[in-house]
Amino acid sequence: RRVISPNLSSCHDSYAVPGEMMVNCCPPRPESEEHVIDFVLPPPSTLRVRRPAHLVDDEYIAKLKKAVAIMKSLPYTDPRNWMRQANMHCLYCTGSYNQKYSNSIEVDIHKTWYFFPWHRMMIYFHEKIIGSLIGDEDFALPFWQWDAPEGMSMPSMYWEGALVDTERNPLHISPNSIGDLNYQMTESKLSSQELVSSNLAFMYNQMVSGATTSELFMGCPFKVGEAGECLGRGTIEAAPHNTMHSWVGKHANRYNENMGVFYSAARDPTFYAHHANIDRLWEVWRKMANYKKDIVDPDWLNAYFYFHNEKSQLVRVSIHQILNITDMGYRYQDVDLPWLNAKP
Ligand code: C2O
Repeated sequence: RRVISPNLSSCHDSYAVPGEMMVNCCPPRPESEEHVIDFVLPPPSTLRVRRPAHLVDDEYIAKLKKAVAIMKSLPYTDPRNWMRQANMHCLYCTGSYNQKYSNSIEVDIHKTWYFFPWHRMMIYFHEKIIGSLIGDEDFALPFWQWDAPEGMSMPSMYWEGALVDTERNPLHISPNSIGDLNYQMTESKLSSQELVSSNLAFMYNQMVSGATTSELFMGCPFKVGEAGECLGRGTIEAAPHNTMHSWVGKHANRYNENMGVFYSAARDPTFYAHHANIDRLWEVWRKMANYKKDIVDPDWLNAYFYFHNEKSQLVRVSIHQILNITDMGYRYQDVDLPWLNAKP
């Protein structure tokens, strides 16, 4: 079947910002399908538990810091290197690869129905790499629970050591700075309490009233042979996803780097906690719909992408393989969904 997938040997310079800035995020050694292995689910085991970033303890934080420091110290030729991980995101968000089955069109996983599954894959492998680097297979990423009042500011674990990123908006690095889930590059004029309520009402819209169909929530179908992006972001991708990226990024930088622009976003450790929350909300939405709104189109289910596993092998993963997180070996700590009762 002709599905969306990258042509590995087509990696090229690409626009980080359309029409303005080119980047090269390609692997230092060209990759080819010859050395690829197929993804297989891990054997059943106890589930790793992804916990809210504002609730983890010092021991956990020390582990994550250690892992990130190791990744930053590895050479760029090692796919587990921090920048290589960040560039994995860059590859698929700037159109560095042409499509395997349509060589004149690039692969971009944003603004389409590949948004949720592709990011699930990316953070899954990142998490496995961390687990192997620190010798703890039970290690699970934290999630940044910005959809609950207690989690709306930037988790303090990211203010120190290897978890710091210098390219952040300094105004937002404080327990008193509440994330504006619908941030439009200017500071909210609301009081903290008003901002919290408006965030919860906004979440209700993005998860419930505005997300009644799979296309509205997941994003638009994008298939082989269709020119360009379909340009239909799902509700959560548009915001809080994009908006919280912008909220973290350094406003003073030309393109709001690091978090505020795709090519550099995954250089900031908060990226992974941000996306773990997005991944969790995908599960919440699926469950609320009793899995009846899951996409069943084979063009989506069979689309496949490549990631490096913890052994630095290049793995081919199809979307249908990653739809059951229990089978993938992880779960999310149960937390309240305060926005569920925040119907505006
Ligand atoms: Cu691929 Cu949060 O973006």
